Amino acid sequence: MAITAIKGFNDILPENTGRWQYIEQAARRVFELNGFSEIRVPIMEKTELFCRSIGDATDIVEKEMYTFTDKGDNSVTLRPEGTAGVMRALIEHKLYAQDPVTKLYYLGPMFRYERPQKGRYRQFHQIGAEVTGVNDPLVDAQVLNMLCAFFSEIGLHEPTLQINSLGCPECRPAYRAALLAFLEGRLDQLCADCRRRFVTNPLRTLDCKVPGCAEATQGAPAMLDHLCGNCGDHFGSVRHYLDSTGTRYSINPRMVRGLDYYTRTTFELVTSQLGSQSAVAAGGRYDGLISQLGGPAIPGIGFAIGIERVALLLGERDFSRRPDLFIATMGSGERFAAFGLMTGLQKLGVRVEMDYEGKSLKSQMRRADKLGARYSVVLGENEIASGKASFKLMETGEQFEAALTAEAVRQIIR
Ligand code: HAM
Repeated sequence: MAITAIKGFNDILPENTGRWQYIEQAARRVFELNGFSEIRVPIMEKTELFCRSIGDATDIVEKEMYTFTDKGDNSVTLRPEGTAGVMRALIEHKLYAQDPVTKLYYLGPMFRYERPQKGRYRQFHQIGAEVTGVNDPLVDAQVLNMLCAFFSEIGLHEPTLQINSLGCPECRPAYRAALLAFLEGRLDQLCADCRRRFVTNPLRTLDCKVPGCAEATQGAPAMLDHLCGNCGDHFGSVRHYLDSTGTRYSINPRMVRGLDYYTRTTFELVTSQLGSQSAVAAGGRYDGLISQLGGPAIPGIGFAIGIERVALLLGERDFSRRPDLFIATMGSGERFAAFGLMTGLQKLGVRVEMDYEGKSLKSQMRRADKLGARYSVVLGENEIASGKASFKLMETGEQFEAALTAEAVRQIIR
C-alpha cells in the first residue's frame, strides 16, 4: 500500500503555490516598507521555551504540542507558534543591543495537534511580525495598520479588525478576582474544560465556543472596565492613532487570546467565511515576555497571519503562471531551431514551452491550449528556410509575423 501524508499535514501542490507566493511576496513588500527585516529561526526548540512563554495552562501547551524526547534525552517541541522562538533568538544574540527598536518578520510552518478541519491543520503556516523595544501606543497602531495594509495589498477587504486590552500585571489580578466571583455562581453551567479553566485560566472561559458557556458568561465583567490608569490611557491612545488614520475596527471586550504572554492591546482579524475558524490573523502586546524568558525588561508587540486561511479567503482567483509562448514543431529537424529560440527568449525573461516528445502537431496544440499559452507558433521547413514565422495570439486567433530571433519575437509578445 502506498504511504500517505500524516493526518493534518498537507502538501501544497504546484497548482496552489502561485497563490502562496502571492501572499508571501505581498507580506514581504508591506513589512519591508515598514522597516521590518526577516529572521529565520529553527522549527524546533527546547520544550521549556514554549511552557514558559505560551503558558502551562493553555490549550496549546496542555494538549497541542508535538513534544518528544530526542536521542540525547532532551525534551524538544516542534514550534506551535513563532513569537517564542524569535524572542529566544533576540535574547540569545542580544539583538536589542544593536538597535533598541527591533522590527522582525518570519514565515514558515507551525505545528499544533488540533482536530483538523477546514482552515485548521496540524502543520500550518504563519507569517508573523514582531516589534520590540517600544511602549508607545503609536507602534501598536503602526503594527495594526501594517496588518490591514497587507490585506488591502492582496485585495481582501473582508477580515475585520477587532481589538481589546488585557491590562497588565497591575490591573489584571483585580479583574481576575472579579471574574472568578462572577463565575463562581455559574460553575454548574460551564463545560468540563471551563470548570478546569476556572482554576487554571479563568479568562479563557470568555471565549469558550460551547454554547452553554457563552450563555453562562453573558454579562461577565470585562477587562476593559478594570484597566488601571496607564493601561486605560494606552488603549485610548491606540484608538486615537487608529482613528487618526481612518483605520476601521470594533472593540471586542470578550477577546482573551489563547496564549498567556499578552498584556494590554490584543487584536484579531476575523472573517465569517471560514466557519468556526474565524481568526485569519491575530496578535497583541507582550510587555513581560522578554524578561520572563531571561532577557531585559523590554516590551514587545506583534501578530501572526495564518497563510492557509488567507489562501482560502482568496477563493477562486487564478494564480497559475501561463507560458507566454508555445513553440510547436512539424518534425525533428525543427527542434534545434525551436530549442535555440526557447533558450534565447528565456534569457530575455519570456516564459516558453515546447514539445519534448515529438508528438503530433494536433497533440502539441492541445498541450499549448491546456497550458494556457498566450501565443503559439508552428515551426516547419518553410519557417526555418525563410527565418520568419507567424505567431498566433491564442485568445483571438490574430497572427503576427516576426523573424525567428529572440529579440524580434519578444517585441511581439510584450
Ligand atoms: P495565534 O492566534 O495562536 O497567535 O495564531 C495566529 C494565526 O495563526 C491564527 O489567527 C490563524 O490564522 C493561524 N492558525 C493558528 N492555528 C492554526 C491551525 N491549527 N491551522 C491553521 N491556521 C492556524 C500566535 O500564534 C501568536 N504567536 C501571534 C503573535 C505574534 N502574537 C504576538 N506576536
